Amino acid sequence: MPGAPAKRIVLAGLGPYSRTMYYPLLERYQSAGRLTIDTVVDLESQRDIVEKYLAGRSLQPRRVVLVPDAADSSTLTDALDGADPLRETPAWGCIVATEPRAHRAYAEWAVRRGMHVLLEKPVTARDLREEGPEEALRMVEDQLFLAELAEKNGVTVVVQAQRRAHPAYLMVKEILAEVVGEYGIPVTYLDIHHSDGTWNMPWEFVSRDGHPYKYGYGKLLHSGYHFVDLFCWLTEVNRGCARPPDRLGLDVSAVDARGVDAQLTDAAYARLFGRERWGRFSGLPRPASVPEQLWGETDVVLLARLMHGPDVVTTAVLTLLQSSLSARSGLELPEDTYKGNGRVRHERVTLQVGPLMTIRVDSCQDARPGGGRSPFDVVVYRNRGLIGGEAVSRVRMRTPDAASDAASDSLNNRAREELFRDFLALDGRRSGLALHGTTVRVLAAAVAGVVRAARGGSGRSVVALDPSVREWHRAE
Ligand SMILES: NC(=O)c1ccc[n+]([C@@H]2O[C@H](COP(=O)([O-])OP(=O)(O)OC[C@H]3O[C@@H](n4cnc5c(N)ncnc54)[C@H](O)[C@@H]3O)[C@@H](O)[C@H]2O)c1
Repeated sequence: MPGAPAKRIVLAGLGPYSRTMYYPLLERYQSAGRLTIDTVVDLESQRDIVEKYLAGRSLQPRRVVLVPDAADSSTLTDALDGADPLRETPAWGCIVATEPRAHRAYAEWAVRRGMHVLLEKPVTARDLREEGPEEALRMVEDQLFLAELAEKNGVTVVVQAQRRAHPAYLMVKEILAEVVGEYGIPVTYLDIHHSDGTWNMPWEFVSRDGHPYKYGYGKLLHSGYHFVDLFCWLTEVNRGCARPPDRLGLDVSAVDARGVDAQLTDAAYARLFGRERWGRFSGLPRPASVPEQLWGETDVVLLARLMHGPDVVTTAVLTLLQSSLSARSGLELPEDTYKGNGRVRHERVTLQVGPLMTIRVDSCQDARPGGGRSPFDVVVYRNRGLIGGEAVSRVRMRTPDAASDAASDSLNNRAREELFRDFLALDGRRSGLALHGTTVRVLAAAVAGVVRAARGGSGRSVVALDPSVREWHRAE
């Protein structure tokens, strides 16, 4: 709108991800006159990193707020609002990209101040060390609480779950919806494999604050959110089938940080990095030396069944791994733990619509130092004699060379920007917080199952899919 003041944006969390993604994006939009970077918030303990990063940027925020590391909600509010000369006119919006245990506090602060929110996945996270499964299930209360508060305050909250705006997955969902809608046959099978090659050295499980394991959660609340969400979002097309699912049966199998520490022996590390180098680190505290603690999972497999009455509508297997091919070849943790730590993304999805169709998504990066290359392909196989069309159609969404820059991962970044634009346009139709209810239920049930199983119990549970059912979870 000509003459309208630029939207003032708060960025909560200037960690490795915001430094790679949001700050440069905000600078670009500020240069185009679309917004201004109002406030950057992070922890007092991160002062040096924050100041060093901002010193190298062309555009500066109006203010930087560094909150005490142990701040609770009220000290946080005081720190953010207390000394602000503009406290009577809150910013237009807030991007919440802190470590996820702080998501709820920042999202609540922003929504209560009437700001719109772009909320990074996962919606929230909780320290699971004391109450474990019960605490994991409270993530559902977080999602409901924030969604209701946002509605009451008339603000939009968009969740950054970018596969909902990813061109390949949008195409897949459209094709599925057409076939399921036309023939009334559901997506009968779905298989997601995501491995990211996040290779942590044993002592990093103890020391890491970003993408931590020491609070009892791991992969599911790191990148796992995306794939639980992808499963829930893609299988929405089953609402168009003759007998849509009403609940989900879930089982889990996980390996935690302590388990990984047992898989990779000291002899193997010494062989890989040299006895002398390994010896300098090998005495540091590690999960194996604190076995009584609950450690977050590095690898998890979910076996899910979408059910209608006694019948299985969809069988799904989600294989979510961090102990997988990595390009890391050093013992020291680099400053950029997001893209500079040898992560290698392998992402494959297979979907079946009974005897009518198979769709395969395939994007596997190689592990060359400095950034692997990965094509992104979608292949659709049709039962041509019955439903017509091409027997096999391939779409190469991206050539391997187009992604040779590790920092770009261009399709995901484009999709992230799409949801950022949804936030600026106050458009919650693709990824508004209220649309994440099923994802958060399934995720919370899976995390609770992982914790129960780690304590020798069963990882099985049943999750109601009807959002109006408040007794939504039963452990089995
Ligand atoms: N959409 C995606 O593909 C994607 C990719 C990477 C990360 N993420 C998400 O983005 C967020 C940030 O990721 P990251 O890798 O930078 O994580 P991170 O855990 O390293 O933390 C981000 C920053 O938050 C700060 N922080 C922690 N607690 C805080 C508090 N109470 N108040 C203020 N600041 C606080 C930390 O000091 C850090 O600088 C996470 O929610 C993560 O899940 C999303």
